[in-house]
Amino acid sequence: MRSNHIKIQVFFAVLFWFSVILISLILSLKAEKKNRTEALLAGGRAFFQQAILTRAWNAKHGGVFVPITKETRPNPYLPLADRDLTTDTGVEYTKINPAFMTREISELAENSKGIKFHITSLRPLRPGNEPHLWEVESLKMFQNGQQEFSSFSDNESNFRYMAPLIVTKECLKCHEKQGYKEGDIRGGISVVIPVKPSTGSTTIWFSHVAVLLIGLLFICTSWRKLESKQVQLIKARKESEKANQAKSDFLANMSHEIRTPLNGIIGMTRLARDSHPEPQMQHYLKTIQTSSNSLLQLISDILDFSKIEANQLELESRPFSPGQTVENAVQTINILASEKRLRLTVDIRPDVPAAVSGDSFRLQQILLNLLSNAVKFTEKGGLTILVERLRNSTDPEWLKFTVQDTGKGISPDKLEHIFDHFSQEDSSVTRKYGGTGLGLAICRKLCQLMGGEIQVQSTLGKGSSFSVTLPFQYADSKKLTTEKLDSDIGKKSSLRFISCW
Ligand code: HEC
Repeated sequence: MRSNHIKIQVFFAVLFWFSVILISLILSLKAEKKNRTEALLAGGRAFFQQAILTRAWNAKHGGVFVPITKETRPNPYLPLADRDLTTDTGVEYTKINPAFMTREISELAENSKGIKFHITSLRPLRPGNEPHLWEVESLKMFQNGQQEFSSFSDNESNFRYMAPLIVTKECLKCHEKQGYKEGDIRGGISVVIPVKPSTGSTTIWFSHVAVLLIGLLFICTSWRKLESKQVQLIKARKESEKANQAKSDFLANMSHEIRTPLNGIIGMTRLARDSHPEPQMQHYLKTIQTSSNSLLQLISDILDFSKIEANQLELESRPFSPGQTVENAVQTINILASEKRLRLTVDIRPDVPAAVSGDSFRLQQILLNLLSNAVKFTEKGGLTILVERLRNSTDPEWLKFTVQDTGKGISPDKLEHIFDHFSQEDSSVTRKYGGTGLGLAICRKLCQLMGGEIQVQSTLGKGSSFSVTLPFQYADSKKLTTEKLDSDIGKKSSLRFISCW
């Protein structure tokens, strides 16, 4: 059971750790990609701005002259009369327009960094300026007011950036014929930046896997530790249970052994008292007798208690008369009650069955305990014992025995501990009234063993009421053979007063 519990905990720990790592991995990869994209976007914008500036500078001069070389030939699409010129020294120059210059710079950039520019428009003057498919899309978007476009392409090996070209006054020098107007959007420049394979995401993967493994290792070792601890605990508990059992066995045996010589003392003392010794001796013997009796009581209480604790107490199930059992208990206590001039009332309700099956001896033990307590703590007034059959119960029969007194009562804070062993109201009580402090604890244990319960109500100064509710099996009254059956008891209502003064 316990180790399953640990397994479930470990399972959830592992699950939790996996999800934490997974979430962190996803978030980190996302953040890494976002950073990368932002850096590329910033790069694209910078290249575009740089192209715009050089173009503006060129347009300001209405084109600029450069020496003609193998790479830089005169632009056939620039139809200006003064496009080419030769200096007095014989060097040939040609005027280059902004688009041409952008292309030249793009070539430089491509050779050194792999970055490509492309100047294009939807209706190009020069066939080489024809837009690619994605550029057509972007150009259309610019016409609809979008400011820029960017995306990854070719399996994320390239990053594309494109922004529109806006016509300024300088552009009109060459483009007025094509109907360019100031502020128009005419074409655009695209920038394609090659994306280097990122090491960032690999690092993230590696670090996450490492942390995941460390966590799993940690969970694993703590699981091992927990399990071995658990095993030790179970072992320790078993050992202590064994020791406890041995202790209870010993106690049960011991108290049994002590009773034998004690009975000898009690018997001999009685014989000695019967031989009419002189008053002084009579007094000594009486003290021996009371002391031995209370010692005997203590021992039999301890025996009972340890038997219950060691699960050795076996209940009998024999048919008996509940009324007779109450009678017996009352008879025993009658002498004590009469010594204190207490009224003793027995009220057995008419519907209480004449016979039930159960442990009459233990029931009597409970009742005797409650009654002798009631006598002990009551100075004037009396006690009532009430026996009722709880309605709505036939199988089993639930009977309720209530012992009520007009004694000094129990204070509320003591009430909740009254059934704990060795918890008399306070130690002075033990001195004044005697008793072992085990009586009520035994009562409760017996009630529990019999499947019932015991309850107490008390008002300080007015008295206490203990009620015991127990289940019994139905029994035929004809089977009552062992005990003599008082015809009055259990058959009809019997409300009796045993007056003792
Ligand atoms: C000195 C003349 C000249 C000036 C100034 C000039 N252009 Fe051009 N532009 C041309 C020529 C010629 C072409 C076509 C041949 C080429 O691509 O080299 C061209 C091509 C273009 C293209 C490429 C698409 C196409 O139609 O082939 C765009 C877009 C463009 N110019 C926009 C502008 C803008 C915007 C300005 C103002 C900043 C400007 N040009 C200034 C001469 C000029």
